[in-house]
Formats: sequence, C-alpha cells, structure tokens
Amino acid sequence: AAPLRVGIAGLGTVGAGTVRLLRANAELIAARAGRPVVVTAVSARDRHRARGIDVSSLAWHDDALTLATDPDVDVVVELIGGSEGAARTLVETALSRGRPVVTANKALIAIHGAGLASAAERAGVALAFEAAVAGGIPVIKALREGLAADRLVRIGGILNGTCNYILTAMRETGRGFASVLEEAQALGYAETDPSTDVDGIDTAHKLAILAALAFGRPVDFDSVHIEGIRRIGAADIAFATELGYRIKLLGIARRSDQGVETRVHPCLVPNTAPIAQVEGVFNAVVAEGEFVGRVMLEGRGAGAGPTATAVVGDLIDIARGSLVPAWGAISGSLSKLTSVPMSAC
Ligand code: NDP
Ligand code: HSE
Repeated sequence: AAPLRVGIAGLGTVGAGTVRLLRANAELIAARAGRPVVVTAVSARDRHRARGIDVSSLAWHDDALTLATDPDVDVVVELIGGSEGAARTLVETALSRGRPVVTANKALIAIHGAGLASAAERAGVALAFEAAVAGGIPVIKALREGLAADRLVRIGGILNGTCNYILTAMRETGRGFASVLEEAQALGYAETDPSTDVDGIDTAHKLAILAALAFGRPVDFDSVHIEGIRRIGAADIAFATELGYRIKLLGIARRSDQGVETRVHPCLVPNTAPIAQVEGVFNAVVAEGEFVGRVMLEGRGAGAGPTATAVVGDLIDIARGSLVPAWGAISGSLSKLTSVPMSAC
C-alpha cells in the first residue's frame, strides 16, 4: 500500500522524538498501520542545529507554512507549540487545504479546539491531539472510545509532569525549586516558557480539553480558576509530610446541575490516596462516570518517548482511516459551558 507521507513542523524534544520512533519501529508501525508511515519533510527554525537525528534526506522547509502545500506531504504534524503564531497558522492552513493534522499543542487545542474541529469536520479530515494531554497516557482515546457510553461527572488529576517532578524532588531530596526546575527543563519536560508549567496554565489547558471531551461542550478557558506551584516552599512540603500528606498540583473539573466547575491549584492529598503515589514525571488522569465509577490512568506525562508514542499512535489511526471525529460530539456552534464558582478543595 502507498505510504502515509508525514511532514513535521518543530524538531525539538517531541519532533525529534517522533522522527526517532518512526524510524526505530518502522516495520512494526507499517504492519499495524497497514502501510508504511514515513517522514518526507520537516521544518524548524535553525537548519544547522544538532538534533541527534539525520534529516539530510528529507525536504527542509524554512517556513513551516509551506508544509501545508508540499505535494509530498499527506499529513501535517505540528510540534512547534503556542496557541497563536506559526503553529495556529499552520494548523488552520493545513485543514483548509484538506490535510489531516496531528498536534501535541494543548494551548492551541484548549483555546481554539472547537473552531479547529469545525474546520476539520468541514474539510472531512482528521484533527488528532492525543499527545496534547498527559503525554503517553492514551486518555483522549479512552474518553472518546472506551468511556463513550457513560455520562462523566468528574475528570482531572495530575496533568503536568514538570510540576509533579518538581514537587516530588523537593520532598524527596530537599532541593530548591529553581534547581529542580532547571533539571526538568534539561530533561525536555518543561514548556519553552516554563512559567506556563509552574503557574498552572499548562494544567489548565489540558483540563479544558479533558472537560470539553468528557462533558461534550467546549470550555471557556478564561473561566478556569488557575493557581500554580511557584509559592510552594520547603516549609509547606515539610508540614504536609509531617501531617501525612503530599502536595500535588491538581486540575479538577466537575459537572453538576449548575454547570461545570474547572480549577487548577495545589492540593493536600493523604499519603494513602492512590494519586499520592504518582510521583516524578508521571501523570494520573482520574475520571468518574455514573455507570463506570472511578477510573485512574497513570503514565509518563512528558518527555520525548511518551509524547512521540501518542503522536505516532494518531498517525497510525490516520493511516488506517480509523480516527473518530476530532471533537466527538462537540462543534463550534454549541454554546460554551457555564462555569460555576469554585468550591473548596
Ligand atoms: P521544543 O521547544 O523542544 O521544540 C519546538 C520546535 O519548534 C523547535 O524545533 C523549534 O525550532 C521549532 N520552531 C519554533 N518556531 C518555529 C517556526 N516558526 N517554524 C518552524 N519551527 C519552529 O518544544 P517541545 O518539543 O517540547 O514541544 C512541542 C509541542 O509539544 C508543544 O506544543 C508542547 O506543548 C507539546 N508537548 C511537549 C511535551 C514535552 O514533554 N516536551 C509533551 C507533550 C506536548 P529550533 O529547534 O530550530 O529552535
Ligand atoms: N510541559 C508539559 C509537562 C509537557 O511538563 O507536563 C507535557 O505536556
């Protein structure tokens, strides 16, 4: 069968990881996709940067936007980041040209997801974003497929690997916030601007996506209450430990008759709670449905390998033609969720 030809914009942690995974597991991926999945074109800012991957045989695009019109590209993978600028323009252009898109960009999907999903539906192509939430945990698939029969009442959890890594290392080693953050950056976990992580914004982006999928309506991002971990100090962690608790940055969305409450803030969780055992770069997504009860999914929430796995999983679905519609039942024409005031943690 004809290969699925992939154009990748952004060759940082996730982009280079995706090229590496597609090459390392090429045979297995071709067998599962029903045809080879091959990278034909790439784009990044600096053509000469060492990335640990050989891109010399691939078409290089100085301007990522031209990937959307490259005749040798069947699907565009956006791994640049940011809700505006080059990433948004590329995704909008690719969809308007009838090209399917895979992205790991939670900021873009949280803020413009409903509009982009409508554009994808109009064009009859896929918009896939498994990698945008919780790295290697296949939570988008779980919500759209495995849990599709139930009405969910709650969704959330530990959604940022960088923050969980920082909180874990501060507790276990007594090290300071700044030096652990530097380590998380060096490991490729943090966003380009790490304040997005530590100020809770990244968790809020992911929570907005989860809540939209779980409750069937887009979430107004501005209605999400957001508080990060910047003010958590050694004394807070020591007191929590003494009292038998751990501090976790949680994103929580709850549906009630009044609407949906979405909030992100540090929480004290008892040492004995399953979510307290989720440490380091690991994330946990907890969903609760009327029929299914409580479900918890755990796995690495950031880094090249887990995130590339999610990106390539979406590419395999596109190669097979088996991807469900971008936003499920949601479309831009539906009204946004009503937010309700925050209640106590
Ligand atoms: P990086 O900062 O490591 O990489 C970003 C890449 O984008 C770089 O290769 C950069 O080029 C390229 N780039 C920037 N601007 C442009 C542009 N205008 N045109 C073309 N290329 C451009 O980011 P990550 O790989 O960490 O993240 C990428 C996306 O994946 C983001 O949306 C992020 O939120 C998301 N994500 C990241 C995860 C992670 O663990 N890191 C996990 C899940 C999602 P150059 O290298 O030349 O500077
Ligand atoms: N910066 C993000 C995190 C990357 O630390 O969770 C994964 O989305």
